[in-house]
Amino acid sequence: MGRQRIFSGVQPTGNLHLGNYLGAIRNWVEIQDQFDNYFCVVDLHAITVPHKSEMLAQDTYKTAASYLACGIDLQYSTIFVQSHVSAHSELAWLLNCITPLNWLTDMIQFKEKALKQGENVGVGLLDYPVLMAADILLYQADKVPVGEDQKQHLELTRDIVDRFNHQFGKGSKVLKLPDPLIRKEGARVMSLTDGTKKMSKSDPSELSRINILDSPEEITKKIKRCKTDPVKGLVFDDPERPECNNLLTLYMLLSGKTKEEVATECADMGWGQFKPLLTETAINALKPIQDKYQDVMNEKGYLESVLREGRQKASEIANQTLKQVKAALGYSMP
Ligand code: TYM
Repeated sequence: MGRQRIFSGVQPTGNLHLGNYLGAIRNWVEIQDQFDNYFCVVDLHAITVPHKSEMLAQDTYKTAASYLACGIDLQYSTIFVQSHVSAHSELAWLLNCITPLNWLTDMIQFKEKALKQGENVGVGLLDYPVLMAADILLYQADKVPVGEDQKQHLELTRDIVDRFNHQFGKGSKVLKLPDPLIRKEGARVMSLTDGTKKMSKSDPSELSRINILDSPEEITKKIKRCKTDPVKGLVFDDPERPECNNLLTLYMLLSGKTKEEVATECADMGWGQFKPLLTETAINALKPIQDKYQDVMNEKGYLESVLREGRQKASEIANQTLKQVKAALGYSMP
């Protein structure tokens, strides 16, 4: 039997943050040798909110380079760009036509992002989860490793599969039902300036997030200024102390220590002792990623060849699924 397939993606920003890394990419890296993996830079999703056209191509390359820098291994995984495989847009259209509008207006992320944009909300933002479903379903993915915030989109994807197969499958499962893979630790990395808010690239404050390419000076400054509380002794899972839980979790994930080890080590610490420890740990954990990133970015030709090859491999599978979906919907193809 062949390996199960994994699909996941990140939107292209020039600089991924610790939420993207710890919630998603690090998990891809850890399990990639057990699966057949497709990791996409989702540049079509990137234009669902106002974007800078002069940055899009460069940010897409940087994100692909970050995948390699974080440890995605081409021996197990395919890296490609969403807009390079036109089947993504085409399947999104076909799925649009079987997706009830209220399924989309109910999405939490849509409501949150739409609120921020006021009257300028594009149809693309509403349609974001259908394109995401198309991404996953084109590859007949078994598992989709993501952070907690994507859970509802995965549920929608599963609803679309059920609806499509029921209406058009004639007893066969044209589309595969994917399972989300959401690890408990790191699934929701919180903002450094407010432990009740998710770390996010759209937060206007740079101090709210650590980016994987931040310099040691930037990391030091951000941790020095991050929000804490006046309580002495550091503990996990106290609902009254969201910042404390978040910072301990970051330390645990970046140091590779267990929760028990960290709980014991930090039980009697104050922030003055903990912050330098977290700073040093974060700098050391990100250093190899940053070095590898520079190597990849210095070899643009190599990155381009990775993406060309990725596009080829991804297209083959995607086009096959698209053909099956179109046939099920009743389209004829000579
Ligand atoms: P994006 O770019 O917003 O996020 C990429 C990944 O990072 C995770 N993530 C977080 N995890 C933990 N804590 C955080 N603070 C945090 N912020 C972000 C997200 O859960 C995600 O796994 N819609 C997707 C992109 C996408 C996709 C797909 C993913 C498009 N098509 C198909 C999987 C399969 C997104 O959230 O991108």
